[in-house]
Amino acid sequence: MASLEMDVSSIAEGNTVTVKWRGKPVFVRNRSEDDIKLANSVNLSELRDPQVDSDRASNPTYLIVVGVCTHLGCVPLPGAGDYGGWFCPCHGSHYDISGRIRKGPAPRNLEVPEYKWLDDTKVVIG
Ligand code: FES
Repeated sequence: MASLEMDVSSIAEGNTVTVKWRGKPVFVRNRSEDDIKLANSVNLSELRDPQVDSDRASNPTYLIVVGVCTHLGCVPLPGAGDYGGWFCPCHGSHYDISGRIRKGPAPRNLEVPEYKWLDDTKVVIG
């Protein structure tokens, strides 16, 4: 299966870029220090699909997730919803800044694809 190499250095802080990988959208978000603090301040017992942020983002500045809602597969919108992450307009699922499901019908967090950092800004997805 194809891998995708990308350079994330042009993604401005707070922005999300969508790339296509294996036919699916993948979101790459450049997170601010505040975003990262917020992602780490969440009490795991409040989460439907408990995962610590560091298990989801090996380089905390860049969150990389598959852009497919875990409810019925719509593409969530970045920078929207009640938790600063993504909002799925199909049936109202809210994901946080770590892509974790916080409210609405989706059962699981946005999937983190396999990826590997080659240096500070170059990453290979898949
Ligand atoms: Fe996203 Fe239903 S497909 S909430």
